[in-house]
Amino acid sequence: MCGIVGYVGRRQAAPILLEGLRRLEYRGYDSAGVAIQNGRGLEVRKLAGRVQGLRDELAQAPIAGTSGIAHTRWATHGAPTARNAHPHVDCTEAIAVVHNGIIENADALRAALERGGHRFRTETDTETLAHLIEEAAGTTLEERVAAALSHVVGTYGMAVVAANEPGKVVVARQGSPVLLGLGENEFFVASDASAVLEHTRSVVYLDDGDLAVLTPESYHVMDANAHVQLRDVSDIAWDLDAIDLGGYPHFMLKEICEQPEAVKGTLRGRLMLEEGVARLDGLNLTPEACSGISRVVIVACGTSWHAGLVGRHLIEELARLPVAVEYASEYRYRPRLTIPGTLTVAISQSGETADTLEAMRAAKAAGSRVLGLVNVVGSTIAREADGGIYLHAGPEIGVASTKAFASQIVALALLGLFLGRPRGLPLAAGQELACRLAQLPRLISLALALEPQVRELAREYAERRNFLYLGRGVSFPVALEGALKLKEISYIHAEGYPAAEMKHGPIALIDADMPVVFVAPRDAVYSKVLSNMQEVKARGGRIIAVTTEGSADHGALVDHRLCVPATAPLLSPVLTTVPLQLLAYHMAVLRGCDVDRPRNLAKSVTVE
Ligand code: F6R
Repeated sequence: MCGIVGYVGRRQAAPILLEGLRRLEYRGYDSAGVAIQNGRGLEVRKLAGRVQGLRDELAQAPIAGTSGIAHTRWATHGAPTARNAHPHVDCTEAIAVVHNGIIENADALRAALERGGHRFRTETDTETLAHLIEEAAGTTLEERVAAALSHVVGTYGMAVVAANEPGKVVVARQGSPVLLGLGENEFFVASDASAVLEHTRSVVYLDDGDLAVLTPESYHVMDANAHVQLRDVSDIAWDLDAIDLGGYPHFMLKEICEQPEAVKGTLRGRLMLEEGVARLDGLNLTPEACSGISRVVIVACGTSWHAGLVGRHLIEELARLPVAVEYASEYRYRPRLTIPGTLTVAISQSGETADTLEAMRAAKAAGSRVLGLVNVVGSTIAREADGGIYLHAGPEIGVASTKAFASQIVALALLGLFLGRPRGLPLAAGQELACRLAQLPRLISLALALEPQVRELAREYAERRNFLYLGRGVSFPVALEGALKLKEISYIHAEGYPAAEMKHGPIALIDADMPVVFVAPRDAVYSKVLSNMQEVKARGGRIIAVTTEGSADHGALVDHRLCVPATAPLLSPVLTTVPLQLLAYHMAVLRGCDVDRPRNLAKSVTVE
C-alpha cells in the first residue's frame, strides 16, 4: 500500500528519500514522487511506474536540498498516472503533501474549495489537503495543517513541506501509520520502519490525532489539542540484513525458507515442556480473567484469516472453548452482540490492516477483551490491543504472506495451550503438544527439502488455467491458503474447498484439465479424504497429494505425491503449507510473474 518517506537534516535529501522509497517498494505501488525544498522553493518530480524511473530522472536532473518528502502511491482515487502521483501541491505550488489513507469528504471539500477559486490538477482526494492548507489560517505550517485537518473526515498519515519554511517537515496521523526516525541533527518520517532502518533504530510511533514538527535541530509531537506530548522512543529490533534479499532471487522464496527461524522466534522463551503449557506474559491475562472466558472470536483478513481457521481447531480442541472466525471486513459492520466472556483475537502480520483494526475496535467497544497476534512490533493493532503475542517471525517483505502464516499457527497453538491447561487439558496432552511444537523448526526444514520435486511439478502444470485445492478439518484452511498463494502471485484461477463439499457443486468442474491438490496428512479424516480422491479420479481428474511420509495407501489414486514429515495432526498445517507455497512460487516464476510485487496487491492494506 502507499508509502511515505520524509527527511530533514544536513545531508542531501534526494538520495535518502529515494532509498527510503526503494525499501517501501514491497508494499505495492503504481507511481512515485518527491518534493524537495531547494532553497528557493519546492521542486516536485513524479511519475507512473517504478522508483527506479524516478531515480533515473533525478540522476539526469538532480535536485539539491536538505529536506523533503516522498511517496509511493497505490491508486484508490483516480488512475495510476504521473498527474495523480504524490506529492500534491496547492494553487501556488508553495505547499506539497504526501498522504496515505482516504479523505472521505473529499468531494464536498473539493467542491467548496473550487467555488472559492482553487484550481485542482488531479483526481485525487489528497489534493484537497494541499488546498485546505493553502486556505487555512495560521502563521506557521503546523498551525495551518492543524486548521486544515479540522475540516477533514477520513484517515491520513501525511507529511507536508512549505516553500516559505525551509528545513521543516510537518507530519500528522489519523488512522494510517506514520513514525519518526530520530538521528543526530536529522530526522526521518516513514510509514514503515524499513525505510529508516539504514539511518536509525530509534523511532517514535505517532498516535491517532498526533501532529509532529521536524527541523534539523529538534522534533516535537502535539496531540489534537496542540499540547506537546512526550512519546516513547522505541528501538527497532531487526537488522538491515533482514530486509535484504541475502542471495535469494525473491523475498517470497527467502521468507518461505526462513520458516524454521520464524517459528523458532515465535516459540522462543514461551514453551514450558515440563508443565505442558505456554508462557505468554504479553497476554496480560490473569487466571481469573482466563476463567471468565466463555468464547473466542477471531477477526482477520486473507492469510491471517486462514490461520484463524486453523486456530479454531486448536483452541476448540485444546481449550474446549467455542471459537468463531470472522472476516474482519464483514464483522465490523454487523450488529455486535455484547456477550460477556468473549475474548476477541485480532490476527495480523502487519498490525495495520484497516478492517482488522476496526473490527478489533468494534469488539472492544462492545466490551470484549481484545488480543493481538501481530508480527510488526509497535504497529497499531499491537498498541491498541489489551495484550497479545508478538510473532517474532522477522520482517515479512514479500507481498504474499508465508512465514507469518506458520508463526500465526504456532502462536495460536501456544494460546490454545495457555487457555487449555487450566481448563482441563491433561498434563500429558499438554506436554505432547509442547514437544511437537519444539520439533517443528526441524520438520519444516525437512519439508523445505521438497523444493526440487515441487519445481519439477510446477514445470508440468505451469500452463494450467484452473486449480482446485481440497482438504478436510485442519487441512481445509491449508487448501484455502494454497489456492490463495497460487492465484495472488501466478494469476492462475484457484479455489479452495472442504473436500467433501466438492460433491455439492465443484465436482462438475473436474476433468483431465483440472488439477486437484489434496491436502491429506494422516489424521482422523484421512480415510474420508481418500474417498474424495476416488470421486475425483473417477472423473478423470489429476491428483497432487500433499500427505504424510509413510502414507502409501492412496497408491494409484494419486498422480503426484509430496510427503511432509509426521507431526501432531493439529500442527500439520505448518508443514503441509510449505510445498503449496513452493508450488505457487515456482509456477509464478515459470510464468514470468513479478513474485514479490504481484499486480494490484499491497502488502499492508491500510484502507478499507
Ligand atoms: C496474502 C496476504 C494477505 C494478508 C491480508 C492481511 O498472501 O498477504 O491476504 O494476509 O492482507 O494482512 P495482515 O496479516 O497484515 O493483516
